[in-house]
Amino acid sequence: MKTELIQDTGRIETSKGSQEVRRPTPYEEAISGQTTPNSWTRRMFLEAALVSVGAAAVAGVPVSGLAARGGGGSGTVTRYPLHIPPIVSPTGLSLTAAPAVANLGDGKPSSVLAYNGYFPGPTLRANTGDYATIMLQNGLSDETITHWHGMIVDHANDGHPISVIAPGASYSYAFPIVQRACLNWYHPHPHMITGEQVCLGLAGAFIVNDAEEAALRLPSGAYEVPLIVRDANLDKKGNLIYNPTTTGFDGKIPLVNGTRSPYHDVDTALYRFRVLNGANARLFRLSLSNGRPFHLIGNDGGLLETRTEVGQIEFSPGERLDLLVDFRGLSNGDKVMLRDLNAGWDLLEFRVAQQVTDGSSIPTTLSSIEKLANPAWTRTFEFEGMSHINGQVYDLNRIDFQVPFGQTELWRFTTGHNAPHPVHVHGASFQVQSRSGGRGVLFPWEHGWKDTVLLEDGETVEVFIRFSGYKGEYLLHCHKLEHEDMGMMSNFVVV
Ligand code: C2O
Ligand code: CU
Ligand code: CU
Repeated sequence: MKTELIQDTGRIETSKGSQEVRRPTPYEEAISGQTTPNSWTRRMFLEAALVSVGAAAVAGVPVSGLAARGGGGSGTVTRYPLHIPPIVSPTGLSLTAAPAVANLGDGKPSSVLAYNGYFPGPTLRANTGDYATIMLQNGLSDETITHWHGMIVDHANDGHPISVIAPGASYSYAFPIVQRACLNWYHPHPHMITGEQVCLGLAGAFIVNDAEEAALRLPSGAYEVPLIVRDANLDKKGNLIYNPTTTGFDGKIPLVNGTRSPYHDVDTALYRFRVLNGANARLFRLSLSNGRPFHLIGNDGGLLETRTEVGQIEFSPGERLDLLVDFRGLSNGDKVMLRDLNAGWDLLEFRVAQQVTDGSSIPTTLSSIEKLANPAWTRTFEFEGMSHINGQVYDLNRIDFQVPFGQTELWRFTTGHNAPHPVHVHGASFQVQSRSGGRGVLFPWEHGWKDTVLLEDGETVEVFIRFSGYKGEYLLHCHKLEHEDMGMMSNFVVV
């Protein structure tokens, strides 16, 4: 098993020098016309990783030759236009997950996995009260199922890993859109191979709009831009690869909307950016190079009560941000960089290209939010190691606890080690109450409704949660996808 693990992602030295002996991914096998069974390779990696820390360190040897191609701060970087995925309705939608060839901006073909051929997938957009009918087709060589992260849907529509479909099969979703306006997203959720499928390209935005949001007259059309931020590794031909370690996939280059070193031409106007951390494991700390703040107006579960100005925002995989950025008063040719201060990456360059008159104001009062209170029950979840919650590794067929429908509960998430653990719950949003230990504070982007909250080492985070959508089986898990795949996940039932 150890040998397999090393061969999976490692390198060996021969008389001819260093040679890559990475096992082809299922996707690479698929495009090379081979038909070997393949999901066991990833599963074997995960199982091996659980028992051998030493071997995991070997598997963590980085793929060379990528660092120089990153989106770093050098002034000579060639920049490419930011991709904006097409917008589609989730009513009557056929959604196919399959291998595709993408242009990451540089015009070269890159092998990816994509929904309907788009990397990232098309942006689904609907209004509260609409009815989604989506037929998922599995064009992959592995099983898959699509989860609508943040959507309040019943178990049959949630994309739980027990609902996986085989290659060639399809799955029919039908659900009403019952929640307030927010930015959600969709991605695969097959147990033990979610990390691979997401990393190779399967993810897209799912925007819900409602009347309360519309009344604010926020920037729209070309002034509302989704930004899916993630990291990636490419092979020598420029194809996306998945070469994780147990500490989480660590990409050498950033991608925004599947674009390398992107730029985006902007007018002298107010913009609304709908930002998703779509990375497997990486935290981003966003800031603007011109020292202006972000006007934070929303997060996972939609609008906050009031706007806040923030200069830096650190967020973890699965979390979303709704940000207004004001380019008014700038001159044509001015450049503003969206940066990640953690990695020192230049993520996206805004180039002021056109003078317009934009008299819109930045709203202060945004929404009213019902406060959950008086929890009737307390549960504690300890995130241990890289694969355990309360001493247990995920079992697809085991229900770990039951939650009464409609009851407000206090859930306490705690960890001592191996963080960050972005804790995510299916089936309901929650309201974060407190953080003790570690960073010791709540941040402005953790107010309002959340479905994913970042837990760092030594931290205890308490949330109030109430399941008032549906009864049935849901998931609690770490959204560092390598932890999730190794079993840091739990089934529960709302009864
Ligand atoms: Cu975005 Cu269960 O996950
Ligand atoms: Cu989810
Ligand atoms: Cu974790």
